[in-house]
Amino acid sequence: MCHFPQRVVVLKLDHRPERDKRLTSHVGLTARAFGTNGFWVGGLQDPKIEETIKGVSENWGHQAFEVQTGISWKKKIRLWKTRGGEVIHLTMYGKHLDKMISRILKSDREKLVIVGGPKVPSEIFTLADYNVAIGHQPHSEVAALALFLDRLSRGKALYFQPTDAKLKIIPQEQGKNVDEQDS
Ligand SMILES: C[S@@+](CC[C@H](N)C(=O)[O-])C[C@H]1O[C@@H](n2cnc3c(N)ncnc32)[C@H](O)[C@@H]1O
Repeated sequence: MCHFPQRVVVLKLDHRPERDKRLTSHVGLTARAFGTNGFWVGGLQDPKIEETIKGVSENWGHQAFEVQTGISWKKKIRLWKTRGGEVIHLTMYGKHLDKMISRILKSDREKLVIVGGPKVPSEIFTLADYNVAIGHQPHSEVAALALFLDRLSRGKALYFQPTDAKLKIIPQEQGKNVDEQDS
């Protein structure tokens, strides 16, 4: 169902349930809406984030989308690399997306896409196979991820339509029209 040729998982390094609830949910919803395979979150476990994203997948489809919070990013990255996957860290300090994307698109390895937070451990920069800047100005995890997935999918991310959706939007110039599929 996903339009990426290889498995793509998004990892957000840190999460504080009280402060980061909306931002972490938005990163996960972006990962789901643009057709990646899963979302892993470091820091504290937060069942509410998992419920929110699973609830959206229940109605809007892509129920195979995996969500895990409270993971150890070190273990996940080590295992990912051991299994032959590659790691792409989005950071304004990296090399510009335009310089990196053709190399990334040529590689057939599974992709773990990392976004950070206010403080990214320096180890991440060395563990990553690519440190990619979505421009060199500070903005947000959500903006960086959305733009990166658009390019990684060669523009297909915006057309992602899960086949198991209960709700499907019929696009309108004005107003809302949602088709409810019988289950
Ligand atoms: C609040 S920003 C902090 C900016 C951070 N100092 C950095 O290394 O990019 C949190 C996260 O958003 C993402 N981000 C923000 N601006 C970015 C940019 N220009 N390019 C790539 N990622 C960016 C990074 O994943 C970063 O860890």
